[in-house]
Amino acid sequence: MNNNRIINVGVLGATGAVGQRFIQLLEKHQWFRVVAVGASSNSVGKLYRDAVHWLLPTDIPVEIGQLKVVGCDDPSHQAFASCQIVFSALDSNVATEIEEKFRVAGKAVFSNSKNHRYDSDVPIMVCSVNPEHSEVILKQKAYQQNKGFIITNPNCSTTGIVVALKPIANQFGLHEVVAFTMQSISGAGYPGVPSLDISNIFYFFIVGNVVPFIGEEEEKIEIETKKILGGLDCNNVKSEYFSNYPVMVSAHTNRVPVVEGHTICLSIKLKQSATIQQVKDCLENYYPKELQSLQLPTFNGNPIVVLEQNNRPQPKLDVNKGNGLKVSVGRIRDGSTSPGESSFDLRMTLLVHNTVLGAAGSSIQNAEYCIAKGYIQ
Ligand SMILES: NC(=O)c1ccc[n+]([C@@H]2O[C@H](COP(=O)([O-])OP(=O)(O)OC[C@H]3O[C@@H](n4cnc5c(N)ncnc54)[C@H](OP(=O)(O)O)[C@@H]3O)[C@@H](O)[C@H]2O)c1
Repeated sequence: MNNNRIINVGVLGATGAVGQRFIQLLEKHQWFRVVAVGASSNSVGKLYRDAVHWLLPTDIPVEIGQLKVVGCDDPSHQAFASCQIVFSALDSNVATEIEEKFRVAGKAVFSNSKNHRYDSDVPIMVCSVNPEHSEVILKQKAYQQNKGFIITNPNCSTTGIVVALKPIANQFGLHEVVAFTMQSISGAGYPGVPSLDISNIFYFFIVGNVVPFIGEEEEKIEIETKKILGGLDCNNVKSEYFSNYPVMVSAHTNRVPVVEGHTICLSIKLKQSATIQQVKDCLENYYPKELQSLQLPTFNGNPIVVLEQNNRPQPKLDVNKGNGLKVSVGRIRDGSTSPGESSFDLRMTLLVHNTVLGAAGSSIQNAEYCIAKGYIQ
């Protein structure tokens, strides 16, 4: 437990789409106070409020707006001196080395970038799904030396998928999952996907359009889902701490003209048979008990909302469920309209807020969990 001590934190990549979400969510956080904002040389030296192209409907927090943006190359910079935690929303072109520097400097790094997700001693963690994977940080060299570590969260679509799959995997087992995504434009960062650019046929433009390709996204969903749902053995003599969950995953990813919220249709083949009502019940009754007992500031009961209406979830209506920290699941039905016509047992549609639960919000929950577990002193 934190005993209400305020912990100073820094945000790397604070000016981007995810960075801004961190700044917004951390403004009134019970435990954390943002004292350092880092970004590229384009922003360094400016006040945060002048450097950022703010895209959120709330105002830039006044105190954070007055912070001077610093570079991310030097964790010993005075701005980071009091930060035990840094949240990273860095462009993946630069995240590998920068995050490593902060880890070596003894900081707890909670990253949204893909760069360290597949390291053998780094968890991809979603607090309500696999918090036990955080134990692997004890194997990180920096943790053993000075308590520095890296914990990542998955790509935004994977986060929604694993939250919805976890209770089903626990109760009935998963054999095969096909995921078809309709992903919002904020998932492409800032400036992101051009809204309208027909002058160059090689440019994607998104108004009135669907783009059936998002670089590396299908691979990420297929790989990360198995690692997150899989097991952990911190005593493995070959240092192979993670074992993939044995499920076949196939993903189709698409960019659609939606501002926020990734909608994802799943077809699922179970290991054990279940009725549709049993599946609904297991989703509705998913209360990760340990998280409840830890009383984390932003964790509030079941991370899943089951919707019964045939036309839900919809980004416009449901993306902010639980302040963007809950996954909405609807259209839970048989694998095909006529029984036996498909090898899938189940279909459903889910919605995840890509920059809240799918990014900054998950990192913040992961940090809260690590404090509650005593990993950060
Ligand atoms: N958008 C999503 O929904 C989402 C969801 C999950 C994960 N992610 C991941 O989160 C990360 C951030 O995504 P985003 O969408 O927020 O990207 P973004 O809008 O492009 O922002 C990138 C940030 O990185 C900073 N940066 C770039 N080069 C830098 C350098 N050399 N040194 C220090 N800072 C540098 C930028 O600063 P300047 O403004 O100064 O250039 C900006 O603050 C990515 O790795 C992405 O894959 C994104």
